[in-house]
Amino acid sequence: MTDPRLDALRHAAPALRLKTDPADLEHYGRDWTRRWTPAPLAIALPGDVEEVQAVVRWARAQGIALVPSGGRTGLSGGAVAAAGEIVVSLERMNRALEFDPIDRTLTVQAGMPLEALHNAAREHGLQYPVDFAARGSCTIGGNIATNAGGIRVIRYGNTREWIAGLKVVTGAGEVLHLNRGLIKNSSGYDLRQLFVGSEGTLGIVVEATVRLTDPPPPSNVMLLALPSFDVLMKVFAAFRERLQLEAFEFFTGRALHHVLAHGAQPPFAEMHPYYVVTEFAIGDEAREAAAMAAFEHCLEQGWVGDGVISQSDAQAAQLWRLREGITEALARHKPYKNDVSVRVSRMPAFLEETQALLGRAYPDFDVVWFGHIGDGNLHINVLKPEGLDDAVFVRQCEDVTRLLAQSLARHEGSISAEHGIGLVKKGYLESTRSAAEIAVMRGIRGVLDPDGIMNPGKLFDLL
Ligand code: FAD
Ligand code: MLT
Ligand code: ZN
Repeated sequence: MTDPRLDALRHAAPALRLKTDPADLEHYGRDWTRRWTPAPLAIALPGDVEEVQAVVRWARAQGIALVPSGGRTGLSGGAVAAAGEIVVSLERMNRALEFDPIDRTLTVQAGMPLEALHNAAREHGLQYPVDFAARGSCTIGGNIATNAGGIRVIRYGNTREWIAGLKVVTGAGEVLHLNRGLIKNSSGYDLRQLFVGSEGTLGIVVEATVRLTDPPPPSNVMLLALPSFDVLMKVFAAFRERLQLEAFEFFTGRALHHVLAHGAQPPFAEMHPYYVVTEFAIGDEAREAAAMAAFEHCLEQGWVGDGVISQSDAQAAQLWRLREGITEALARHKPYKNDVSVRVSRMPAFLEETQALLGRAYPDFDVVWFGHIGDGNLHINVLKPEGLDDAVFVRQCEDVTRLLAQSLARHEGSISAEHGIGLVKKGYLESTRSAAEIAVMRGIRGVLDPDGIMNPGKLFDLL
């Protein structure tokens, strides 16, 4: 017997695809966090904007919560449906709609995977530059909702910088067509940017017009082995001073240990405590000389113990795999993830304080550090020891996160640099945002989602 409320939905949108099989409820009800047991009422898979609108209007009338859903690669529990919600999956709305060569924009449906967007841009001889390891599964809608960052922020910025226009269905069921691809538009509040990073709490992004840019320059990838943590920012300064950096990423020997255990090949004869993978533009002798000068300077200073530079695209991919493979390699250890940021200028002091704090707080756990150090963004993953109860582990980690949040507040940093707040970091939002800011966000949410149906329980609680 089907739920009578779903019969009403079928009546409102007769062609809407709905899934209610237990396997589907489980599949679509979770993201990468795996901390909550999925329990949605059903999965709606709209095929166009009108069907999205029909679902929202029906949900308002029935008082049923909606969880917008992209590729469910999110790391903050934003797409989790564990309380009888309807998951609104955009997976059928995944097409490119319009390319404009003069504006250099591409309009796509929100369910398009990031990698498909990269390919579509390349077909037009251009580039969509936001990039990270989940590219094959995550969607542009999810990227917008989390303001995703990734490995090229140092050069190109976050998702926010690349959104020229959005079409959204608000929690009130209205369709808004925001900014319409304009470069200049001083006509009041930029509602488009409100939706970037809104984590599905204001409405559903159904279409995005993204800016494209010149294809990436020819580049080389260099892997560096570092003897200690305190030279990290010095190596960064040495490379940034001399080169046009496309990426500057860091990881620890513990991270490499897990990636190697997952099947990667060791880059050097010996293991080192810290590593950097950096990519920079080449193409002329001056740039190549600058790369060698940066490396030699670091070597002379004793900041770098070993290094390798890619000689082919295949080798560049192999070096990148050492950094990009970390998340998958750690997944079986059920990591507790921190995704924190401070201004780059604050990084040395913050790193020193955090290292001391975590050394005291986590004496027995395997703590794996990596991240986008050139953007001031650190990922600190704590691995669950085998045999330790999941809930006890999370509780112990949360005790440390409270201290980390206090440190971030002192350094004026953020408890979430790029993954979003979702369920995972909701309790710490106040370390990053003032009470006055949260009150304004609550007010905005009330206007765009008057009945509180959009992803309730995520980001902050409705009062
Ligand atoms: P989902 O997980 O499905 O959803 C994320 C949030 O967006 C939820 O709150 C959901 O409700 C909302 N949402 C989804 N679609 C819509 C829509 N159409 N309208 C409104 N709201 C919507 N993130 C980074 O920023 N940088 C990285 O380097 C990075 N690397 C990763 C590597 C791996 C291996 C993995 C697994 C994840 C990584 N992530 C990274 C996290 C994740 O991929 C991003 O947060 C991504 O933007 C999520 O996209 P998604 O489509 O999977 O969204
Ligand atoms: C990364 O930088 O690799 C991603 O943000 C994923 C993660 O933190 O695990
Ligand atoms: Zn990251």
